[in-house]
Amino acid sequence: MDWNFDELERAKRYKLLVSLVVPRPIALVSTQDENGKCNAAPFSFFNVIGDEPPIVILSIEDRNSGPMKDTARNILATGEFVVNLVDEAIAEKMHACSDDYPPETNEIEVVGFTPLPSVRVKPPRLAEAPVSLECTLHSKIDMGNRRIVIGQVRHLHVRDELVDPVNFRVDMDKYHPVGRLFANRYCKTGEQFALEKNAYLKRMQKAGRA
Ligand SMILES: Cc1cc2nc3c(=O)[nH]c(=O)nc-3n(C[C@H](O)[C@H](O)[C@H](O)COP(=O)(O)O)c2cc1C
Repeated sequence: MDWNFDELERAKRYKLLVSLVVPRPIALVSTQDENGKCNAAPFSFFNVIGDEPPIVILSIEDRNSGPMKDTARNILATGEFVVNLVDEAIAEKMHACSDDYPPETNEIEVVGFTPLPSVRVKPPRLAEAPVSLECTLHSKIDMGNRRIVIGQVRHLHVRDELVDPVNFRVDMDKYHPVGRLFANRYCKTGEQFALEKNAYLKRMQKAGRA
């Protein structure tokens, strides 16, 4: 099967892309509006795309009715946000943050997360998140009804037990991030495998085939 994406209708493109390009990491983004009102919502059109400068990207679709989602509105108004990463323990609460609350709702309170003051930005980070990235707005691209938000990571918090501060290694036996599949489906990251660098090349060289 194959499709010409210039011709395929939008809903079908979306369905194929979000179901096939999986799993995606999840950013549970906390923001504040100009008056300090807090908001939290999950985004899986999200990734880290560089380290110099340290850059994350979010793609936030406008509401079907037209206006920007609160997260996009707040980031563009204040230039600040926090990406809280999501592990198994907080997956259900993360999902609940995406429910259709009215704009004045503080999802952090409603869902029962604990806000903690951030160090470099005004929006709070979430105490229950294993990792939080404090970000400032680097740039924005308007693409159709999407706001592509590019953020620069200014400060990182990680639960103590997850990283060895000497060699900076993450303990994957203790870190259990979840990934987004599609719709309401998620996956765990507990089952991993390792591949040795250059192992294939060495085998081929030994066999005289490379
Ligand atoms: C796991 C997950 C990932 C999501 N990813 C996105 C995304 O990448 N872009 C987007 O516009 N909406 C995404 N959504 C939907 C938003 O979270 C939802 O529209 C939310 O209500 C927006 O809240 P806000 O208006 O407070 O910003 C996602 C929802 C879930 C549950």
